[in-house]
Amino acid sequence: MVEFALPKNSVIQKGKTFAAAADAKNLRRFNVYRWNPDEGENPRIDTYEIDMDHCGPMLLDAILKIKNDIDSTLTFRRSCREGVCGSCAMNVNGKNTLACTKAIADYPDTINIYPLPHMAVVKDLVADMTHFYEQYASIKPWLESKTPAPETTERLQSKDDRAKLDGLYECVLCACCSTSCPSYWWNSDKYLGPAVLLQAYRWLVDSRDENTDARLEELDDAFKLYRCHTIMNCTDTCPKGLNPAKTIAETKKLLTQKHLK
Ligand code: SF4
Ligand code: SF4
Ligand code: FES
Repeated sequence: MVEFALPKNSVIQKGKTFAAAADAKNLRRFNVYRWNPDEGENPRIDTYEIDMDHCGPMLLDAILKIKNDIDSTLTFRRSCREGVCGSCAMNVNGKNTLACTKAIADYPDTINIYPLPHMAVVKDLVADMTHFYEQYASIKPWLESKTPAPETTERLQSKDDRAKLDGLYECVLCACCSTSCPSYWWNSDKYLGPAVLLQAYRWLVDSRDENTDARLEELDDAFKLYRCHTIMNCTDTCPKGLNPAKTIAETKKLLTQKHLK
């Protein structure tokens, strides 16, 4: 059997414990991944005990509580605190999610928080999204049309055409799906991954876009699209309840139809 060993400087160490006050009655324990490139030390897990009688109900509330009242060195991303900006994506008890949309009450007493898996870590819970955003830019996520826009109205759609964007426009590009996808873990240099492929499909089915053929040709690649093996982790993890795996299957169908023409 093959055995893997982590490089010495990747082995996670036990960190500090920040105990709650002795009279705290409603305790939760948060084990949080910590790594600071400036310290030159291995990553560690710090444990924070929080009295839930003095903390908001969502996971992001607990993380903000740690930052504001217990340990200001903890680094993470957040902005909207209502599931819209996509920036608080992290791995919680083994599943990628948006910390601001998850209630602490839905987790066991001990909660393990890590950055998104298989991404380079910038610091603590902050993953390096550079490559992910470059892949997003590569699919030209904007309307391409040679037809001039009407002078007095927007480019209008029928209700049916507009409905084709449902389940697509809601994507907040949090990358929870892509970073839960085994194919993306092993081939993210070439495979676009479910988030970017969902976005690509969003432009393929937009009735106002006139570049569908060229968009399909760009995607017709053994790695960019066909590395998806329908494992479905992406759909299972999406905190917005979207179905990226289905959009990938639909894109493959569009390409098959194009080849049959
Ligand atoms: S499809 Fe879902 S999980 Fe993937 S980036 Fe969009 S919102 Fe996030
Ligand atoms: S269905 Fe495709 S994109 Fe989704 S997790 Fe599986 S391999 Fe990845
Ligand atoms: S803070 Fe914006 S999605 Fe969580």
